Amino acid sequence: MDLGFDSRVAVITGAGGGLGRAHALELARRGARIVVNDLGGAVDGSGSSATPAEQVVKEIEDLGGEAVANADSVASAAGGEAIVKTALDSFGHVDIVINNAGILRDKTFAKMTPDFLDPVVDVHLKGAFNVARPAWDHMKERGYGRIVNTASNAGILGNFGQTNYGAAKMGLVGLTRVLAQEGRKYDIKVNAIAPIARTRMTEELLGPLAEKLDPETVTPVVAWLVHEDCPVTGEIYSAGGGRVARFFVGMTKGWFDPDITMESVRDHFDEIRDEAGYTVPRGTNDEIKLVLDALS
Ligand SMILES: NC(=O)c1ccc[n+]([C@@H]2O[C@H](COP(=O)([O-])OP(=O)(O)OC[C@H]3O[C@@H](n4cnc5c(N)ncnc54)[C@H](O)[C@@H]3O)[C@@H](O)[C@H]2O)c1
Repeated sequence: MDLGFDSRVAVITGAGGGLGRAHALELARRGARIVVNDLGGAVDGSGSSATPAEQVVKEIEDLGGEAVANADSVASAAGGEAIVKTALDSFGHVDIVINNAGILRDKTFAKMTPDFLDPVVDVHLKGAFNVARPAWDHMKERGYGRIVNTASNAGILGNFGQTNYGAAKMGLVGLTRVLAQEGRKYDIKVNAIAPIARTRMTEELLGPLAEKLDPETVTPVVAWLVHEDCPVTGEIYSAGGGRVARFFVGMTKGWFDPDITMESVRDHFDEIRDEAGYTVPRGTNDEIKLVLDALS
């Protein structure tokens, strides 16, 4: 093990089970001090219990590591502040935030009501804001930070019956990319993962290969993305079962005609959509430059 986290402090949300627990144990094994946050509710977000977070703290301590439990909800700004305060009070600073807490309230769009939408957006999308916001000030001040947001292929690629979850998860991609830009000059790197793992959230969905999809096969990717040596920011990685790949936003070469009409768009639609020669813009300026190049 040549990659360590000695003296680093990591806040990991939803770390009482599943992926978050695996991340917490691995970072602790490699020397990080951990805030194990978990509300301890059911998959749909109902209920709460401090036990899951406390149990993971116990597991870390049994390994000889250092951790503290926190059972606040990421779904409110006050909860996010309390989670970060736990890190500051216990360990003095925060180097790493892994936004991992999550719930599911799947419904087809026809049956989607605020009861299914609001809690999902509150936990996944606003939850990441709520925890990263108070951590950000400290990271900026210290000139160092690593954040990983847990997105999902359900948002990046779409998945039937998950408009609430998919929209919240894709929102995290936007958050990741903007934060990466804002954090660049402070050595704060912000990336996202789209994991595939067998947890209580997916145990009925993954089929026969589930046994090969341990959360522990996702954790090395997260651990690398929050390590000080990791060179990338604003990127999205697919991780599951030991397979790792990068998702990226590509743009086709496109088509240009200053005298564009509705009919000419129809007539050139294949060319507009043609993936040959695509580019991967790093930010809005890259895209605007391509438009300006076409115009000049
Ligand atoms: N398992 C997969 O294949 C998969 C795929 C894509 C994305 N994800 C995402 O990975 C993350 C971890 O999920 P998991 O699969 O390990 O499921 P999980 O249910 O085991 O873990 C989620 C944890 O978040 C906690 N949590 C829920 N609401 C919370 C809140 N308001 N505040 C604090 N903690 C809260 C839960 O108590 C739970 O322990 C989630 O964001 C999930 O959406 C998982």
